[in-house]
Amino acid sequence: MVTLHFHARKFLKRALKKAGLPYGAESHVEVKGFLAKHYDILLDLVTVGVYKKFIKDVISKMGIQPNDRILDMGAGTGRNDLLMLGYLVEGEVIGLEIGEEMKKQFREKSYHHGNLKLRDLRIENKLPFQDEFDKAFISFTLHGFKQKDRIKIIDNANKALKKEGKFFILDYNEIGLSKKSFYVKVLFDLECNLARDYIKRNWRKIWKEHGFSVKNEHLYFMKLVRLLELEIY
Ligand SMILES: C[S@@+](CC[C@H](N)C(=O)[O-])C[C@H]1O[C@@H](n2cnc3c(N)ncnc32)[C@H](O)[C@@H]1O
Repeated sequence: MVTLHFHARKFLKRALKKAGLPYGAESHVEVKGFLAKHYDILLDLVTVGVYKKFIKDVISKMGIQPNDRILDMGAGTGRNDLLMLGYLVEGEVIGLEIGEEMKKQFREKSYHHGNLKLRDLRIENKLPFQDEFDKAFISFTLHGFKQKDRIKIIDNANKALKKEGKFFILDYNEIGLSKKSFYVKVLFDLECNLARDYIKRNWRKIWKEHGFSVKNEHLYFMKLVRLLELEIY
């Protein structure tokens, strides 16, 4: 069994290196190359189609209203934003993204949708938005930043949202690894250093310090992933 685990881990390390996610990296958040070019299809293949259903369920839980203006921070290919458009009539989605391959796919996806717009802005920098969005969304992106930049992103979301706006964060849950199974430990061993830092933080305290309280949470994949709905208090 130990030999099997050893080989499985070695195989995964190699596969990740080939995909552009080297073992021991500080962060994997800036997705590039082959992985970025084929991001959506690879996600579906690796999860044998589970991701497709999962992300539809996540977006359905955002309570999107026909006139909502939504800010997607680190929007990737725009796949999640297309799902959001399905709930909108007059509203719009603004995706913030910096990756060249990701922006290209986002532009292709948004070509026929006047209410899906891309802005080439770094989400940890000062953003030109204030009290204007009903919802902000960040998916599998926050964990890949240093804590000081995560805080800047959280403050940017707070500033961009209307008073009654909601901030949705889809990312890893807070978990202690010591009691988790071998496979969960391997997953986090292969993840970037910042992901291991992210799961240890006391996020409820941090949200509070930055003007948010938790309204709702939905847990997925044996509680490893959570969708948080935060409101401004
Ligand atoms: C792991 S991917 C997640 C993409 C998308 N949110 C999703 O769930 O499919 C992280 C994304 O954040 C983008 N990104 C990384 N650093 C960024 C930054 N500083 N500002 C804006 N986008 C960034 C990457 O290019 C990549 O598309």
